[in-house]
Amino acid sequence: MPAKLSVNINKIATLRNSRGGDNPSVLQAAINCQKFGADGITVHPRPDERHIRYSDVREIKSIITTEFNIEGNPVEDKFVQLVLEVKPTQVTLVPDAPGQLTSNHGWDTIAKADYLREIISVFKKAGIRVSIFVDPIEAMVAAAADTGTDRVELYTESYAKHYHTNKHTAIADYVKAAKVAEIKQLGLNAGHDLDMHNLKFFAQSIPNLAEVSIGHALISDAIYLGLENVIQLYKRQLQ
Ligand code: PXP
Repeated sequence: MPAKLSVNINKIATLRNSRGGDNPSVLQAAINCQKFGADGITVHPRPDERHIRYSDVREIKSIITTEFNIEGNPVEDKFVQLVLEVKPTQVTLVPDAPGQLTSNHGWDTIAKADYLREIISVFKKAGIRVSIFVDPIEAMVAAAADTGTDRVELYTESYAKHYHTNKHTAIADYVKAAKVAEIKQLGLNAGHDLDMHNLKFFAQSIPNLAEVSIGHALISDAIYLGLENVIQLYKRQLQ
């Protein structure tokens, strides 16, 4: 079974918010991603709603035909209430600070074990699959298993950063972390900075990979690959 591709559509919201209206529509983007083969839609509402808004999350839920994954930090009570109301397929818990540009580290599953166990049980009681964001460190994955989480999401920034220098060195910690997840019977997701170049080797090297969530590079590639078509369509209007 190939790993599932969940498309993170936060960047569509960022573009929309820059003009105030509803263009591009995140709802339409979600519908199209599913129509074109995405296995899921990911959103990461942040407390200041600077990209995906809480109202977007509620609207997207109504058109989901695949898997819906909501990411965020559960220290925000507003976030917990939103997830419990929307009941997505999966919630991915990320320890990001409110104003952070993007997620930049995983949970310390040893120091935060009690907190994680408690909050994970809240989501699991509501029937929501839980994944927690972790760095590719064997001890962090092993301790994640004691929190009751269903899955871990490996933070792939370091893999992506070092891929072009030496892909074998870049993947080494991930292979080890993935083995621990398999032994502990944890599902395995991955995300951050994955792109068209580094994705194949990652998926080939991690046989138990269940899902990747990709936003920035995929939406950027959609712009590059779509430009030729769109420019021709606009030129046609001028003829
Ligand atoms: N996983 C998590 C936890 C994230 O915070 C993000 C970015 O919002 C991603 C995956 C996707 O990263 P990228 O946009 O670099 O593909």
